[in-house]
Amino acid sequence: GSYGGQYRPQVHFSPPRHFMNDPNGMFRDHNGTWHLYYQYNPTKSVAGNQHWGHATSQDLYHWTNQPIALFPPKKNVYIFSGSAVIDKNNTSGFFGNQSNGVVAIYTLAEYLDDGSPGPQSQAIAYSYDSGFTFTPYDGNPVIPSNSSQFRDPKVVWYEDHWVMVVAYAQEFAIGIFTSPDLIEWTHASNFSNQGLLGLQWECPNLVRMPLYTEDGQRRDDMWTMLISINPGAPVGGSITEYYPGTFNGTHFEAVDSVARIADFGKDNYAGQFFFGVPDEEDPVSIAWASNWQYTQTVPTAQEGWRSAMSLPRRNYLTRIDRVGWKLISSPYDMQPIMGRNLAYNQSLVNGSLTVDFSDIASNAVYWEVNVTGLPKKGVPEMATLNFTLLSPITAEYIRGGYYFGGDNPFYLDRGGAKGFDNVFFTDKLSTNSLFRNGSWSMKGVMDRSILELFLNDGVDSATATFFATQPLTFLIISTSSLPHGTRVSTRVNALKSTWQ
Ligand code: FRU
Repeated sequence: GSYGGQYRPQVHFSPPRHFMNDPNGMFRDHNGTWHLYYQYNPTKSVAGNQHWGHATSQDLYHWTNQPIALFPPKKNVYIFSGSAVIDKNNTSGFFGNQSNGVVAIYTLAEYLDDGSPGPQSQAIAYSYDSGFTFTPYDGNPVIPSNSSQFRDPKVVWYEDHWVMVVAYAQEFAIGIFTSPDLIEWTHASNFSNQGLLGLQWECPNLVRMPLYTEDGQRRDDMWTMLISINPGAPVGGSITEYYPGTFNGTHFEAVDSVARIADFGKDNYAGQFFFGVPDEEDPVSIAWASNWQYTQTVPTAQEGWRSAMSLPRRNYLTRIDRVGWKLISSPYDMQPIMGRNLAYNQSLVNGSLTVDFSDIASNAVYWEVNVTGLPKKGVPEMATLNFTLLSPITAEYIRGGYYFGGDNPFYLDRGGAKGFDNVFFTDKLSTNSLFRNGSWSMKGVMDRSILELFLNDGVDSATATFFATQPLTFLIISTSSLPHGTRVSTRVNALKSTWQ
């Protein structure tokens, strides 16, 4: 596949060709190599015919495409989403003295001859070569079922046993199973009917999430359940919800009954957390940067591919005034892709900055704006900060803006990009992003057809795809009506292509 198309992301992962959805089986191996598998249709640019595609990376940004790792075992049976673990102590018995054996745990999704969904069951496959090639276990499935809505096993290690979370998609329940060996599974409990329901629950994760104080000290851990909902998100289609809580090895209990949504964009779904990241480090995740409402019609198919992954993100929980528990999610160390500085301005108070980056080959940029010295009270309603990414050729744009007064609303508008017309491709997305201690910040990554925003270092984040007919090559950042004493510093950098 060529990674040169106008829409092809240069610092995000996308498949060599054809259709990709959920990240699967992600783990970091004993050499520190990151493995990403993904729902893959290698023959068409729409969903179906699911395999596990595979790619590897040393830094989570530069990916090497690898041969397909898991194939449909027979006609009308496909490999749906799932996870992978390193069976260090050979609990499964597959690996003899080897301490780097990998076991993939996934859904076998059967279709009946009339095309309707048949049974979904959970199966495993093992790998002696660190996840490049797999052998399906000959006793599959390890969790049989008659249900056509039972999928997406995610396995973690808890003290002395394996724990699987798996979705009973249309019953709004996450099953929790335990196992000593990844082969014999016992149903232990269900987590169900909480928060937003939508029409289906998919791709659960159970994560030991570090808990940080507001001033950035890691204090404790808190188990967190994450559930992907599709369809039925408040802004339409796919979304991720999370529940901080407690887990005792068999039962998960949410800390309260509040529904919390992770990313306020419309293109962040089925996120998964890597296995094999040591407890001392913050958990790392990648999500599918699309939405089932329109993913199969986006115009990237003219370049022979569809869907990209989100940036890799590090995650933790914190507790914020007026907001409560909050999942903080920010880009994993971007040093490997950070290119030359294009602009640097330490006094952007009530002024504007225009950066023409049309000579940057990647057509990908990073910016950050740090605002400090805001008074506690008396910020004028009119005080704003805006950014616009613009095509000087067609005047197409995407933009966003923040209001320092009132309830601190932030909006993102992708409606000025005219390369895709779909009634479900919501133009305007918003959130409220309170500033604290007189400070507010925004980081942005624009990568040809994906925008990711991180407000206040990831307290709020948004992933949004966009499709302009011409590349957006100007970035304009401006502020107005900021009160006396406010300081604004801005930096814009090119991003280095990881594919060229
Ligand atoms: C989520 C999902 C999963 C399923 C996979 C099939 O996007 O529907 O529930 O395993 O996609 O590709």
